[in-house]
Amino acid sequence: MQINIHKAEIKDAEAISAIWGVVCAERIYTAVNHPFTPQQERNYIAFLSDREGIFLAEVNDNIVGFQSLDLWGKYTDSFDHIGVLGTIIHPEWRRKGIGRYLMKYTLNFARTKSYEKIIIYVRAGNDGAQAFYCSLGFTPKGVLTRQVKIDGQYDDEIFMELFL
Ligand SMILES: CC(C)(COP(=O)(O)OP(=O)(O)OC[C@H]1O[C@@H](n2cnc3c(N)ncnc32)[C@H](O)[C@@H]1OP(=O)(O)O)[C@@H](O)C(=O)NCCC(=O)NCCS
Repeated sequence: MQINIHKAEIKDAEAISAIWGVVCAERIYTAVNHPFTPQQERNYIAFLSDREGIFLAEVNDNIVGFQSLDLWGKYTDSFDHIGVLGTIIHPEWRRKGIGRYLMKYTLNFARTKSYEKIIIYVRAGNDGAQAFYCSLGFTPKGVLTRQVKIDGQYDDEIFMELFL
C-alpha cells in the first residue's frame, strides 16, 4: 500500500471536515463531538503558523486520515518547545499502519521546527488510541477527571508525552 503524506492546504478543508463527520458520529474516540465545518477548517488552516500543520495521509488519491500538530500555548514563548498532536484515521483504514506512518512524518517535521516534546490528550475510554501512542513511545503522565462531557456522559482524559 502506497501512503502519501502532505501538509493540508485550504483546498483540503472539505475532506478533513468529512472525516471529522465520520469519527464524531462514532461518539467514543474524540472529545470533539461536533465535526468542524469546512469553513472552520479553512479558517484553522489559514491561521496556522509555519511550525504547525495538519498532515494528510492519502491512499489511492483519497484522504484516509490526518494528524495535527499545534503549539501547546501561544500566549507565552516559554511553551514554544512543546507541541500538541492529534490523530484521526477513517474507520475503514485503521490498523493498517497509517497512524504509525503519519507519526513518523509529523515527528520529523516537529524536530525540524525545534520542538522538544509532544503532548497528547486521549479519552480514558479510548484504549486503542492509548495503545497506539504507547506503541510509539508516548508515556502516560496523568488523568484529568470528568474532563469530557458528551450527551451528559463524562469521560476522563489521559495526558501523554514524548520527548523528541
Ligand atoms: C488510534 C488511531 C489513530 C490509530 O491509528 P491506526 O492507523 O489505526 O494505527 P496503526 O495501524 O498505525 O497502528 C500502529 C500500532 O499501534 C497500536 N494500535 C493501533 N490501534 C490499536 C488498537 N485499536 N488497539 C491496540 N493497539 C493498537 C498497535 O501496536 C499497532 O501496531 P500493529 O497493528 O502492528 O499491532 C486510529 O485507530 C483512530 O483514528 N482511531 C479513532 C480516533 C482516535 O481515537 N484518535 C485518537 C484521539 S487522541
